[in-house]
Amino acid sequence: MIWFDILCHPVWAVSTALLAIVVRIQRRGCWHPRDCAVRLRGKTAIVTGANTGIGKFIALDFARRGARVILACRSEARGTAALKEIREKSGNSDVHLRLVDLSSLDSVREFAKGILEEEKALHILVNNAGVSGLPRQITKDGLDMCFATNHLGPFLLTNLLLDLLKRSAPSRIVNVASCNHKKGEVDFSHFRGENLTYFRDSVYNHTKLHTVICTNELARRLQGTGVTANSVHPGIVMTEVLRHYPLLTRFIFNLIGFFFFKSPEEGAVSSIFCAVSEDMEGITGKYCDSDCSLVLPAPLARDAALAVKDFDISERLTS
Ligand SMILES: *[C@@H]1O[C@H](CO)[C@@H](O)[C@H](O)[C@H]1NC(C)=O
Ligand SMILES: *[C@@H]1O[C@H](CO)[C@@H](O)[C@H](O)[C@H]1NC(C)=O
Repeated sequence: MIWFDILCHPVWAVSTALLAIVVRIQRRGCWHPRDCAVRLRGKTAIVTGANTGIGKFIALDFARRGARVILACRSEARGTAALKEIREKSGNSDVHLRLVDLSSLDSVREFAKGILEEEKALHILVNNAGVSGLPRQITKDGLDMCFATNHLGPFLLTNLLLDLLKRSAPSRIVNVASCNHKKGEVDFSHFRGENLTYFRDSVYNHTKLHTVICTNELARRLQGTGVTANSVHPGIVMTEVLRHYPLLTRFIFNLIGFFFFKSPEEGAVSSIFCAVSEDMEGITGKYCDSDCSLVLPAPLARDAALAVKDFDISERLTS
């Protein structure tokens, strides 16, 4: 009975109530897709790398909100499986698969041509696809494979779709970057695979820095068009980005990840926030953290002169 008395003591009751209130306030501060009532009926969205991981959950969210969703995937088999799953889970049949290999400029042009011919509008473009841990490789365009897939391919895709995005304004571009960009460096000879040390995730880090830099510059160039462009950090997420790493590395990461990392569904939240939330209406040129707060990116990503140069060089290499 003494324990009952202690547990029921007013101090306990009050502190438990306070704790509950604090937790609630914190959770309320953190945006969540399920609390967002925005509908996307009549809107068209493209999500790259939508067959797995974060991309699949972003596409599923858009589909549930009633959007026409185009899954831009490289693998037909995996893309078809995701298409079926997203249609079933969302009950939305206006979800479609289109194939694109972002590491190939020709493939990106072909994909964009198809979109421009067949889509009347485009309101949301999420450049989510990315690779990490690939062995050193030069594409047939003479570019480093990781740079082509993570930066130059999505860069070209966005530019080719810009007129359609402008015509459909208000529209939003969301580029999935990473807090890893803070460890990245800028050396334009990297684009062609020169001076690159393939040491762990160094190349990935460089590519993500270019993503943030060029997103900010794009936002500046799009001022007044009604098209916004923001980059996001999804959080440390367990996805198949790891699929090119050795088995043991994957095993260890998966083990740690089970306890500490975000699930792909949680990793999709900051991208969904930037793509659909009312809070982000008209907001552009920002870097969004995984908890949906707008924070400053690395100093290199805030260097305006560097951004102009990066954008111009990226444009030249993809034209
Ligand atoms: C990159 O490599 C080239 C030779 O491929 C060299 O001339 C150049 O100085 C290097 N740049 C940097 C920044 O190290
Ligand atoms: C890449 O970025 C991550 C996260 O910031 C960091 O832990 C890692 O050391 C970086 N890799 C290299 C080679 O700089």
